[in-house]
Amino acid sequence: MLNNIIKKMKYNFDKKLVKFILKKKIYQKRDPDLHQFILMFGSLVFQLYRSGMVLGLYDLLDKEEGLKFEELSQKLQIENYPLKVLLNSLEFLQVILKIGEKYYNNPTITFSALKKHNKLFSMNSTIEYFNMVVDPTFTELPTSIKENKPMGLYKVYGEDCNSFYEEISNDPTKVEYFSTFMQGFTNVNTDEVTSESIFGKCKNILDVGGNKGVISVALAKKHPKLKATVFDYPEVIKLAQQRFEKHNLSNRLSVLSGNALESIPAGYDCMTMFHFIDIFSPEQNKIILKNIYDALPDKGIVCIFTPITYLNKRCVNDLMGSYFLNLANGKGEFYNVEEIKHWLGSTKFSIIEEKYFTFNEVFLVAQKNIS
Ligand SMILES: C[S@@+](CC[C@H](N)C(=O)[O-])C[C@H]1O[C@@H](n2cnc3c(N)ncnc32)[C@H](O)[C@@H]1O
Repeated sequence: MLNNIIKKMKYNFDKKLVKFILKKKIYQKRDPDLHQFILMFGSLVFQLYRSGMVLGLYDLLDKEEGLKFEELSQKLQIENYPLKVLLNSLEFLQVILKIGEKYYNNPTITFSALKKHNKLFSMNSTIEYFNMVVDPTFTELPTSIKENKPMGLYKVYGEDCNSFYEEISNDPTKVEYFSTFMQGFTNVNTDEVTSESIFGKCKNILDVGGNKGVISVALAKKHPKLKATVFDYPEVIKLAQQRFEKHNLSNRLSVLSGNALESIPAGYDCMTMFHFIDIFSPEQNKIILKNIYDALPDKGIVCIFTPITYLNKRCVNDLMGSYFLNLANGKGEFYNVEEIKHWLGSTKFSIIEEKYFTFNEVFLVAQKNIS
């Protein structure tokens, strides 16, 4: 018994010591030009990082910290030459670190760190979505910037194409990559945001741009009396329908196809816009909010959940403007809260809740008050 306790204490101490040495190493060994190299060789760096993921290196080092070269070669079944190429590059990039003969994940940037901060964020689906759908279009970015047009979108679907979301919804492989990425991203806060007490007061929700119904399913499971309808493009709602059947929720969850920019159906006391406003320009968002306002009854509410940027500091969401400009329709970006609140105010909504979530996301609830 005592032996076991001492063993466990030693194990925990060793683990802490390794983490301490790893963190020290990160700062000591950083090449002063690393940032510059990452910028210059970005595509190569991305594929190296992705290779470590696809080949199971980070998962392995997560499970068995501190493996030697030969052990990695044997467990990953990779020959010496390519393994050396991979490990040396990832070590230079400080994705993995080496103490003596043993390799470790960098505790501050690889999967273990992300898992610690938020177990549900799916790095794999984000990387695969960018690899398969986004990156091939990004050679067009300078032209997109110069001409203020989504040249990446045009490269793949032609200049007279419809919305990016409509186009990928007709492409089963791409829509799967997109929906899986979206689900991985949405999952970060789904549990918390769908637990918000305001949803307990709603009877019938229209989940505008609800994609494959991740939010609707979570809402229905948390609030047993609630009904919800995913409103999205015709091909997308098929995915939502399948999901509802899989979860045995078809009695309370349904789907409806349409375009939020044209009109929004009435008959709902709450409308959700989750990860939706960022794909539109401010002018388009005002049109959609007006459509929602007109469709809601008095005291009906709209719930916006979206990543945000800040006026006084930069964050990773500022990087994503290029994704919307080049590919996802050439109009959107992540907005700051003041701007979103301004659109709501000018549509005559009164804001009744404002709450901030991890990963720079905000939850805003606004009500229609005629009386
Ligand atoms: C970024 S995804 C968000 C998905 C989901 N709400 C979530 O949080 O995971 C945007 C969704 O809006 C849909 N969409 C885009 N433009 C739309 C429009 N004009 N009318 C209705 N749905 C639209 C897309 O097909 C896609 O499913």
